[in-house]
Amino acid sequence: MKAIVWTGQLEVRDDVEVRDPRAHEVRVRVHAAGLCHSDVSVVDGTIPFPTPAVMGHEGAGVVEAVGDAVRKVHVGDHVVLTTLGSCGQCAACDRGQPTHCRDTAGKIHAPFRVAGERAFQFANAGVFAETTVVSESQAVVIDRDVPFSSACLIGCAVVTGVGAVFNRAKPTHGQSALVIGLGGIGLNVIQGLRLSDALPIIAVDTNPAKEAAALEFGATHFICAGPDVDTAAAVREICPTGVDHAFECVGHPGLVRQAIDLLDWGGSCVLLGVPKFGTEASFVINTLYNDKSILGCRYGSTRPHHDIPMLIALYKAGRLKLDELVSGTYAPADVQQALDDMHAGKLNRAVLTFA
Ligand SMILES: NC(=O)c1ccc[n+]([C@@H]2O[C@H](COP(=O)([O-])OP(=O)(O)OC[C@H]3O[C@@H](n4cnc5c(N)ncnc54)[C@H](O)[C@@H]3O)[C@@H](O)[C@H]2O)c1
Ligand SMILES: [Zn+2]
Ligand SMILES: [Zn+2]
Repeated sequence: MKAIVWTGQLEVRDDVEVRDPRAHEVRVRVHAAGLCHSDVSVVDGTIPFPTPAVMGHEGAGVVEAVGDAVRKVHVGDHVVLTTLGSCGQCAACDRGQPTHCRDTAGKIHAPFRVAGERAFQFANAGVFAETTVVSESQAVVIDRDVPFSSACLIGCAVVTGVGAVFNRAKPTHGQSALVIGLGGIGLNVIQGLRLSDALPIIAVDTNPAKEAAALEFGATHFICAGPDVDTAAAVREICPTGVDHAFECVGHPGLVRQAIDLLDWGGSCVLLGVPKFGTEASFVINTLYNDKSILGCRYGSTRPHHDIPMLIALYKAGRLKLDELVSGTYAPADVQQALDDMHAGKLNRAVLTFA
């Protein structure tokens, strides 16, 4: 089958196979998959990953085969795939925090073969392929009338961005917010803030073309960052004492510092961007005494089987924007064009279509 494989370079290959699902696994025909910056971070060396690896971790499709012990998912079901292969048995899973399940960290599966050689699966998903095999806990059944090209984005961008607001920052009505970096993650933070009645919602990006999407998704203000712009002063013009919530959605230590420095007393800063492993950021300790917090956040601290159906319901009620996230669909062979368009800042999200 066809898949996009990282071998030290990004290759579109036709010689990829996937093994049959084991007892608790399902095989899914991938219909659509979003391009997240974390895929790009493998290609540019920010996130080290062994090769060869089938890339992609934001996918949706149809269940094609199930293992003997699978009960909740059936052949023909439409599913959104999550990267969290939580065990469902440990204390973290039991208390409803599957992103804390140790089973979901550091395990690298290899259900694929590329030219006969064992191949890894990026982020437990490997959805840049015509079919993939994942644990049944990673397949969340959705209504059949939701287009795959929109549904797939829930698998990372939406659970991460909206989840960071709903599950981590938890703003109360009328609290102010700052969002730095307006890719798929930042735009979903913005719409999570809109759904939470945060106000104002100040959006910052270096790319002036991001203003329209920021306002469409719910930002009240847009600041185009750049060498000639004092972003901090522009934020303080809107919120003189700082913001209640700040979200760093780029993965840059200077922006982490800026987000922390712009917090109001009692404010919290959620770190979503993923820099190179080992990167450090600094802050002035005294500035945090007034009950300020710095919060890490993995995958929107989501509970996929609770949050994904809830997000689908919000979408169907017209309150969550998914279709508007899709800036363009690309054939797998055009993945380089999708990367170029992403780097040129043309995209909310690129979607690769496999079926
Ligand atoms: N924490 C998590 O669980 C999680 C999940 C998914 C992605 N991520 C990470 O989130 C980050 C964003 O991912 P994405 O897919 O939205 O990326 P993206 O490439 O689609 O968007 C990044 C945006 O940041 C903007 N930007 C770049 N430099 C900037 C600067 N100096 N100031 C302001 N804006 C700037 C870009 O113009 C772009 O609009 C990445 O680091 C990704 O790895 C984290
Ligand atoms: Zn992602
Ligand atoms: Zn667990």
